[in-house]
Amino acid sequence: MRFETLAVHAGVTPDPVTGALGPAIQPSTTFQRSPDGSFPSGYEYIRDGNPNRKALEEAMAVLEGGASAVAFASGMAATMAVLQALASGDHVVAPLDAYYGTAKLLREHFGPWGLEVSFADMTSLSAVQAAVRPDTRLIWTETPSNPTIALTDLAGVAAIAKPAGALVACDNTWATPFLQRPLALGVDIVMHSTTKYLSGHCDVMGGVVVTREAGAFVERLRAVQVHGGAVPSPFDSWLVLRGIRTLPWRMRAHCTNAAAVASFLWEHPRVERVHYPGLRGDPGYSLASKQMSAPGGMVSFVVPGGRAQAFAVAARLRLFTRATSLGGPESLVEHRASVEGAGTRAPEGLLRLSIGLEHPEDLIADLDQALKG
Ligand SMILES: Cc1ncc(COP(=O)(O)O)c(C=O)c1O
Repeated sequence: MRFETLAVHAGVTPDPVTGALGPAIQPSTTFQRSPDGSFPSGYEYIRDGNPNRKALEEAMAVLEGGASAVAFASGMAATMAVLQALASGDHVVAPLDAYYGTAKLLREHFGPWGLEVSFADMTSLSAVQAAVRPDTRLIWTETPSNPTIALTDLAGVAAIAKPAGALVACDNTWATPFLQRPLALGVDIVMHSTTKYLSGHCDVMGGVVVTREAGAFVERLRAVQVHGGAVPSPFDSWLVLRGIRTLPWRMRAHCTNAAAVASFLWEHPRVERVHYPGLRGDPGYSLASKQMSAPGGMVSFVVPGGRAQAFAVAARLRLFTRATSLGGPESLVEHRASVEGAGTRAPEGLLRLSIGLEHPEDLIADLDQALKG
């Protein structure tokens, strides 16, 4: 079946008791034992398992083409679980431009915990190869990246990791499985912040990890989930599953709108640079055409005049809301350098746009008036 069909049906079956097509939300924390002590429903206690969480995990495994999925309370909890499933002393290669929360987690939490980390420029396979050591157990990728929307060649990284005996993980949050299927390119682990496009309405937080194969690694992830308890609530799981059902159609509109906005910015005399891998002049263009079915809904651009001018443009925008995050129906603008603070790699004149589901001409008109000043 094709993606649109899977998105509507994966993890959703009519309720056997009521016949309802929409899944019920099951908030119970505890489940009845049989006289013999067994649990006929398969559920025992909410931290171990819940029907809404299970349905979400089933759907995500189907959409990514994986053997198993494990859901978490946030994207960061999902990333943390992958890192906690490694052993102290393991070496990890991570992107220089990883989501700043991921880089912080690696440096500030997992450094003292005993993971060794090398940050590499993931746009260069030779840089990735050079960073790999005999004790490398994981190569973490994130493509497209934040905030310069740079691309990593996932099949190329997988080809480096395999002979080195390392796993490859991909943060697929920005692309979603509709635009990019990392497991089919040789990646072992896919991670998502479901807070973004998968839920799609900026009203729920969650994360998920999908693995290509069943086995010891996913068992460790499951243990981190169940023992640590950073699990999504039944309602949050239900909301993400509901969002998934319209994912392909929302993503098409995000991509169409983003392409129109990026082309407009590219031609604009008051814009110094545009980052969008759908533009022919973008360094990620040819890889995006190969690796993704469309280049996504995130665009960033640089205005001359640094931070002051970027702030002035953002302040004049009326339709774009100045707010963090991405993947919802409303368009957002953010000055990443000030959000990330000291050590940021984001240029001071850069504004990041999460392109929403408004009409593209309205978004372009808003940017035009804000750039004219
Ligand atoms: C690419 C990426 N990965 C991970 C995260 C973290 O996800 P969460 O905020 O759900 O913990 C984010 C959040 O912005 C993100 O953009």
